[in-house]
Amino acid sequence: MKFGSRQTILGATGILMVCLVGVAMLSGQAAQEPKPQMAEELFKNVQILKGIPVDEFMDTMGMISAALGMNCLDCHTGDSDQSWERFAADTALKRTSRRMLLMVNALNKDNFAGTRSVTCWTCHRGDLRPKVVPNLAVQYSAPVEDPNEIDILPAVSGGPSADQVFDRYIQALGGTQRLANLKSFSAKGTYVGFDTHHTKIPVEIFAKAPNQRSMIVHGAFADRVTTYDGRAGWVAAIEKPLPLLPLTGGNLDGVKIEAMLAFPAQVKQAFSQWRVGASAIDDHEVRILQGTNPRQPPINLYFDESGLLVRMLRFADTPIGRVPTQIDYSDYREVSGVKMPFRWISTWTDGQATIELTEVQANVPIDAARLARPAPARKPQ
Ligand code: HEC
Ligand code: HEC
Repeated sequence: MKFGSRQTILGATGILMVCLVGVAMLSGQAAQEPKPQMAEELFKNVQILKGIPVDEFMDTMGMISAALGMNCLDCHTGDSDQSWERFAADTALKRTSRRMLLMVNALNKDNFAGTRSVTCWTCHRGDLRPKVVPNLAVQYSAPVEDPNEIDILPAVSGGPSADQVFDRYIQALGGTQRLANLKSFSAKGTYVGFDTHHTKIPVEIFAKAPNQRSMIVHGAFADRVTTYDGRAGWVAAIEKPLPLLPLTGGNLDGVKIEAMLAFPAQVKQAFSQWRVGASAIDDHEVRILQGTNPRQPPINLYFDESGLLVRMLRFADTPIGRVPTQIDYSDYREVSGVKMPFRWISTWTDGQATIELTEVQANVPIDAARLARPAPARKPQ
């Protein structure tokens, strides 16, 4: 049952995925920005995954790692954490992966009209060696519904409309008027994740309506800055392959939607179509709104019984499939009459981090430089 419905979702989304890469780049909001660097222009030994920007290339690595349940260094040489150049060296697993990349391309081309219906995940499902024999324990255990994989149908009879779910959300946050009065905020808090080896470090967030947002994670040696300036987005961090990594495609859409969710009244207008679904997260009922735009992966918003947003699920498209990012929001508190989540957990194929706010100041002036293209990250001397 579970297996069947998952297949359907993959099949259905596959159809939507035709030529997303090309179109996403054409429609890229970063019109005034210089053309982002392609993976093969930066890296030395890219033979197959060519013609995609660096951030998208890194998403393909996240996709492969997730699909095989591996870490970066399992496939690359053990010293690759020393420098980016070392990732160029070939290993047996890398060579096999290249063959697999070609195999998957051919499978999709020959059988599924070139849509990305088969991905590394389809067979591997988190294992290096795909299972061959049906698993009786899985077949006879109670199916577990994953709210991230629910099929959202065009109309749920008897349920609320998308407009009603949005209206409840706005009411739960404090109402249209109070939301309209919130024009900017700055926040301080803590960040802890796999990338900090589970040590809490300071984080600052600056946001300005309608859709500018910057997050600065103050690492022990350097800051990581993620900014959406209303048009373009970047990550400036020493651990990235570029000191200023421009965000493209689904990553750009992702920082944009996160900026919009800082001032949620406008989110409804950001997607041309909304569908309503229902499921449960940790045994709590949730309403799901799925927003779609032409040539973009969908976004799922999950609302709890009180009407508040408890999860956002978004995707970035890559040539080898769709990569998910999930953000779980909690601990809503009032800031000048508007409810804001003070805690959220971001989960992506490459890590997980928890952000907790300790202090939020509403409607304070924010230095324009905070919300503009960040300076490239510099390695500490
Ligand atoms: C299952 C194997 C596998 C895993 C796991 C994996 N990679 Fe790769 N990686 C590859 C393959 C295959 C290529 C070459 C792709 C091509 O030729 O188009 C590659 C290429 C790269 C390159 C380009 C190197 C160069 O100079 O040519 C970088 C950088 C890289 N990977 C980083 C990562 C990171 C970071 C991770 C962890 C998030 C990771 N990889 C996980 C298989 C893997
Ligand atoms: C159609 C099913 C299928 C798909 C799709 C698939 N693989 Fe595989 N893969 C296999 C099988 C089967 C094996 C062989 C496992 C064994 O030797 O027992 C394998 C083996 C591998 C291995 C070598 C494992 C080892 O122990 O040496 C790597 C690495 C790998 N796959 C990477 C990938 C990557 C990366 C993708 C996506 C681009 C992918 N595979 C997509 C079926 C698949």
